[in-house]
Amino acid sequence: MAYNYKDLGLSNTKEMFEKANKEHYAVPAFNFNNMEQMQAIIEACAEMGSPVILQCSTGALKYMGKEVTPLLAKGAVDTARAMGSDIPVALHLDHGPSLDAVKTCIDAGFSSVMIDGSHYSFEENIEITKQVVEYAKQFDVTVEAELGVLAGVEDDVVADHHIYTNPEEVEEFVSKTGVDSLAIAIGTSHGAHKFKPGTNPKLELNILAEIERRLPGFPIVLHGSSAVPQKYVEMIKENGGQLKDAIGIPDSELNGAAKSGVAKINVDTDGRLAFTAGVRKVFTEKPGEFDPRKYLGVAKEEMKSYYKSKIETVFGSKNAYKAATK
Ligand code: G3H
Ligand code: 13P
Ligand code: ZN
Repeated sequence: MAYNYKDLGLSNTKEMFEKANKEHYAVPAFNFNNMEQMQAIIEACAEMGSPVILQCSTGALKYMGKEVTPLLAKGAVDTARAMGSDIPVALHLDHGPSLDAVKTCIDAGFSSVMIDGSHYSFEENIEITKQVVEYAKQFDVTVEAELGVLAGVEDDVVADHHIYTNPEEVEEFVSKTGVDSLAIAIGTSHGAHKFKPGTNPKLELNILAEIERRLPGFPIVLHGSSAVPQKYVEMIKENGGQLKDAIGIPDSELNGAAKSGVAKINVDTDGRLAFTAGVRKVFTEKPGEFDPRKYLGVAKEEMKSYYKSKIETVFGSKNAYKAATK
């Protein structure tokens, strides 16, 4: 079954980003892999009146299925409306690897896609991004691209060091591709192990400032922005989990970026940690529990309350739209 995203009540990211940049906040882009994570995200954002990008990697799409994923996103929109909130909701392909993957998602009902050509040469990245933009434009779907390489793990691709975005390349890239937003590398990285404990996690905010000077008002995207909350690391360890010591991106660094031209900030790992901490806690406290609603429900609430606080402390997107009334 093919859907147009507009029939599912979804929005692309164009107006979301314009409003975010004008009002100096960032739109949260939270990854989901199942119904409970979707519920945690939409309930948090509807209660806060924050716009939201429901984000799905190719791995997540394979796990949920392309038949189920757009309908979960429709369910998210309907949930927000039933709660009395008018927040816009986008369904976005995270780290799209190819034009074929993008086509599959747009046909399935996605309203926004990323083409990640960051591992190609500058010229090849321009070429593949241009092809994706030409295809997506026909359906009014917005496109994110990436310049620079984040350290860490993305699906099957592992990069062991950062290649910061070169500000001198951004104008040419944006004008030649016609892309709607640009992900940049300024020191964030994917996964739970971003910086070694004891080090000072600093972003290259001077690179961000130079990019913003060259692309005034253009929506910039930050990937790899989880904070790796120690509360959840400890909860997981206390309840039988094993995690290497790790620290993430401090909220204060991100909040500064959210007030600038950064219009979208990606968080996945923090949601995974909160969810896992919730499940593990129930299994420790109630080893006899075998009703999935009893442990997945607790996990959902944990993830939801974390995202609500993150919207206040980092994104600054609270009450940008009508918050839930029920
Ligand atoms: O950027 C990576 C996201 O956290 C998605 O991770 O490919 O394991 O779903 P995943
Ligand atoms: P984290 O691993 O820091 O949550 O980053 C997620 C991300 O960038 C998804 O594209
Ligand atoms: Zn990413």
